[in-house]
Amino acid sequence: MERTLTIIKPDAVKAGHIGDIIKIFETNGFRIVAARLVNLSKPEAEGFYAVHRGKPFFESLTGFMSSGPAIPMVLEGENAIARLREVMGATNPANAAAGTIRKLYAASIEANCIHGSDAPETAAFEISYFFPGVQLI
Ligand code: CMP
Repeated sequence: MERTLTIIKPDAVKAGHIGDIIKIFETNGFRIVAARLVNLSKPEAEGFYAVHRGKPFFESLTGFMSSGPAIPMVLEGENAIARLREVMGATNPANAAAGTIRKLYAASIEANCIHGSDAPETAAFEISYFFPGVQLI
């Protein structure tokens, strides 16, 4: 069993796709271990995406991620990190496979509906970023 951090991003919350995306998690056998609704400040978004500091899209991305409510969640399942990335689809929805969350609901490479951890080390950091000191069950 493995855990991963996902965020239903502000574009998907605003467009009313929370339920659609959670349904896809459930259909694909992920167990929801934790969830919050947050309205990130710009510094909080910058802290989360610190690995991207200095990239051309950093300012815009962190502005977007602090533009409205978002839902970080911890998902658990076999091979959860890689499987969630399959279910999400490519970062740019234009390149995402049919049936993936980003193909179904995302508008652009920035407003791309959903985040998912890319490796065990980043999952550990990202889970502790949103659920510090929380006993996950
Ligand atoms: P995410 O999986 O949350 O990880 C980093 C995010 O940066 C990514 O999804 C996109 O939303 C965004 N991103 C990555 N590359 C670009 C890019 N070239 N232009 C704009 N945003 C990007």
